[in-house]
Amino acid sequence: MQVKDIMDDENFGTIIYKAGMNEVAEEMLRTGFSSVLIIDEKNKLTGIISGYDLRKEIAKEETEKDQETTAADIMTPREKLLTLNPESYITEAVELFSENRINQIPVVKDEYPVGLLNIRPTLDYYQKKEKKARLRVEELEEFADIIDNLHEALIVFDKDKNLRMVNKAARELNLKDDDKLGNINNLLDSVPRLKPIVEEVLALGETKKMIEVPEINGKNYVSNCVPLKEDDGEIQGVLQTFSDVTQLKKLQIELTKANNELDKAFALTLPNYKVENKLRSTPEYKDVFDSKTGNITITDKIADGGYRHVINALKVAADLHEKGVMNLVGIDKDVLVRAIIFHDIGKTQPNLEKGTVVNPCKIFEDGKNHAARSAEFAKNFYDQEEDLVSLIYYHHHKEEELPASFPGHLLPSFRLFKIIDGCSAGITRRDAVVSFDVQGTKVTIHEQNTHPMFNLTKTIDLFSGSWWSQALKNKD
Ligand SMILES: [Fe+2]
Ligand SMILES: [Fe+2]
Repeated sequence: MQVKDIMDDENFGTIIYKAGMNEVAEEMLRTGFSSVLIIDEKNKLTGIISGYDLRKEIAKEETEKDQETTAADIMTPREKLLTLNPESYITEAVELFSENRINQIPVVKDEYPVGLLNIRPTLDYYQKKEKKARLRVEELEEFADIIDNLHEALIVFDKDKNLRMVNKAARELNLKDDDKLGNINNLLDSVPRLKPIVEEVLALGETKKMIEVPEINGKNYVSNCVPLKEDDGEIQGVLQTFSDVTQLKKLQIELTKANNELDKAFALTLPNYKVENKLRSTPEYKDVFDSKTGNITITDKIADGGYRHVINALKVAADLHEKGVMNLVGIDKDVLVRAIIFHDIGKTQPNLEKGTVVNPCKIFEDGKNHAARSAEFAKNFYDQEEDLVSLIYYHHHKEEELPASFPGHLLPSFRLFKIIDGCSAGITRRDAVVSFDVQGTKVTIHEQNTHPMFNLTKTIDLFSGSWWSQALKNKD
């Protein structure tokens, strides 16, 4: 709740600083308020006169009175005035009222008076809220037994960071030396990385999910931090949970290890250190495309992208092999594997840093150029056969761009190679998850990734070249 929600912004009185005492009295009578705000010619606040100030002036002996007394003479001037902003929180107003003997506070925006806040509605609101907050804690306490027996560790603390609840699982975490409620700072100090998170949730009122917590007693935890809010949105505290993910973490490490070993095994298929070196030193980039400008923003640099691309392509080929696609006439496993290894060997990439915005058509070389170069290298340095050289040479051509001289018997391999190359690019550059179904001459590709444009399922007939998207698949 903010000051603007309970201030009086309609009936408060204002009067020019040069007004006489009669006018001040009339304004006070008109509004019924015990104060009147004093403004200058530009309507900016210059002071305040209370009923007491006015009575004091009127009570002076006639002889003492200055005939010319104006509002400016008896007002409390602006520099001595406490004011509030319409956006200030009520708690701030309560503090001002309790620390100063005042009953009304002017509310100003850019020095223009926009309202007057009275002590009575402010205190009424605050007391009601306190009562409600107490009820909330009591409500929570009703569930103490259930909360205490939750498998998840749970702690609750209020907006002043006082710890209000710790369940059994949280106590077992040994986050704190004892189970008595105390100041949250002690608790947070023992897990320093939590402190800024808790403070951020209190300040912004937004939930933080799946935060990795530093190891506690040799175990790994993730934490969720949820703000506890009043109906009006004001934050009353934070509820934090901890889930044990030790086993999950172990599995993750084992999976990464297994993946690395698989990579190493695939790397053994590379013919020599020059090929491996070339692939490892060719970067690939993750990017975001802006359809309005046609530019891309580099979001990540994969320093060994060429190597990762080939390894991923080999994994895709292994998957398709397992599904039986290499049993087809016209598909040669050995040719495909070598085509994968050599197809981008002649690729050259610009050196771009994260955050760079570029026009991809201008900065990246046309794929057909490196395809021709790679084919030349495969033929002349690695003595590869004609069919394989043709596959590499045309791997950036669309099928309709192939020359009449392209050998027809290579078309199934050409189509399959383009699937493998494209899927590997998705896995390497767009974190895609790809799976396949093979039925006879038809290969169905299921690709899922964060980019909606590439979230698709399509089927291609390797022999005829016909393809169907998911929506048309039933017509097949
Ligand atoms: Fe390529
Ligand atoms: Fe490629």
